[in-house]
Amino acid sequence: MSAPGKLRDLMLRITIDGTRYEVEEGLTLLQALDELGVLMKGVDIPHYCWHPKLSVDGSCRMCQVEVEGIPKLQIACDTPVREGMVVHTRNERVLKARAGVMELMLVNHPLDCPICDQAGECKLQDYAFEYGQMHTRTREPRRALKKRVDLGATIVFDQERCILCRRCVRFCREIPGTSELAITQRGDRSTVETFPGKPLENDYSMNVADICPVGALTTRDFRFKVRVWFLEEVPGICTGCSRGCNVHVGVADDQVRRYTPRRNDDVNDTWLCDSGRMTYQEIGAPDRIREAALRGDSGELIGATIDQAIDRAARLVREAVEKEGPGVVAALASGHATNEDLAALRGLLAALGSETHGLPIVTGAGDALLVRPEKAANAEGARAAGFGEPGLLLDKIRGGGVRVLIVLGHDIIHEQFLGSPEPLAALDAVILLDTHRSRLEQVADVVIPARHLAEKGGTVTNFEGRIQAVPAALEPAFEAVAEAHVLARIASALDLSIDDGSEHEREAD
Ligand code: SF4
Ligand code: SF4
Ligand code: FES
Repeated sequence: MSAPGKLRDLMLRITIDGTRYEVEEGLTLLQALDELGVLMKGVDIPHYCWHPKLSVDGSCRMCQVEVEGIPKLQIACDTPVREGMVVHTRNERVLKARAGVMELMLVNHPLDCPICDQAGECKLQDYAFEYGQMHTRTREPRRALKKRVDLGATIVFDQERCILCRRCVRFCREIPGTSELAITQRGDRSTVETFPGKPLENDYSMNVADICPVGALTTRDFRFKVRVWFLEEVPGICTGCSRGCNVHVGVADDQVRRYTPRRNDDVNDTWLCDSGRMTYQEIGAPDRIREAALRGDSGELIGATIDQAIDRAARLVREAVEKEGPGVVAALASGHATNEDLAALRGLLAALGSETHGLPIVTGAGDALLVRPEKAANAEGARAAGFGEPGLLLDKIRGGGVRVLIVLGHDIIHEQFLGSPEPLAALDAVILLDTHRSRLEQVADVVIPARHLAEKGGTVTNFEGRIQAVPAALEPAFEAVAEAHVLARIASALDLSIDDGSEHEREAD
């Protein structure tokens, strides 16, 4: 039995703008509203320096509110909730204080909005519009500082745009623990700098651009690429490792232009590692497989339609089964495929009567923050679908017990497994479903272009067993088909019916 009475004791009743809330003891006002899911979604307390995953700074003063019984306005980011607290967030006094803070913030801010990459997603713009005034009272020139400072390989800094909220400084100190950034100088000369000889170079460096509330920090990768109001932001999952960090897939002109973190406190808080963030480039990479191909009589791969490739794949499977029985057909699964794709692969093998399969997962370095050693988003999902280490399958291939191999992806030729496609050359047929070109094509008899996760959507299971569903973010620029659909069509050509994988979508978070 739970102890509801005890739990209730830890809850406090507070009133904000006439609405009563029950909040946990020990939180600040902003934390409590964030936990309730109403901060800036019903209860608007603008804030610059506060970030839900960083320590409190209390420097910007934008979050001032009136608390009954306390003479001065209080900053909501550093005011603990207490029983019976009555708070006003939009009375005249508060609005006047906010307008004053905005005026001070803008005294030295350059008139850069038309050329600033942050325009459209800038908190200074948003709050100036909402809480500021429409004119300036100063005639003095604005301070002139450096407009382009390279903080490291990934981030460019505009000193004039910085509002000194110190989010970037606290991020480096508190999240990767590398402390490359500090505020130097005083007064209106204050600015962010790196320490001499220590550039901003941690594995999570690009998060500082996400959390900078203004356009002071921009990623070298995204700056000046596209105006943010042309971006469609679709929920996605990073495919860099088995953490499965939640991302916004930014799409413009039918191309993915960036990944930015999508908050999920159970998976990645509000962060992404730099290498995972850059995996968006794989989607539009020049080495995508853009056309189906079949091995011709001359031994060359010749372009074909996907229908022709599926027909050929079905014929090769049928001939092998009729000649030597179902056991000679085997499959290599992929940790990059979705649960739906993997269910279809299991279904096809089961319908054929084969139990021969394997799963190559490439591993690399991990860290204590987010990065996992397994470099495939759905390694755990593939194991849960029943696919295991590829060793037995590879032994069977070397012993001649496999004649036709269906391969999803090309991790098998990574140096951690075969190292080259040669051991597969002796098979009667290799049917390859893949997103990117590789040496595996040298031994493939059928090549079918597959869709990236961002192009097909579906579910993937992260290393903790969390099943996450995402929609398709865009259509590929060429004809490509999700592996599940290819496998279902091969099954159909063989007069077999298989699971369509929809069960996984129902289980997703
Ligand atoms: S660069 Fe951005 S995040 Fe860093 S202190 Fe300035 S405004 Fe804040
Ligand atoms: S930790 Fe893994 S899932 Fe998260 S962003 Fe990095 S590579 Fe992607
Ligand atoms: S958000 Fe509270 S002082 Fe900055």
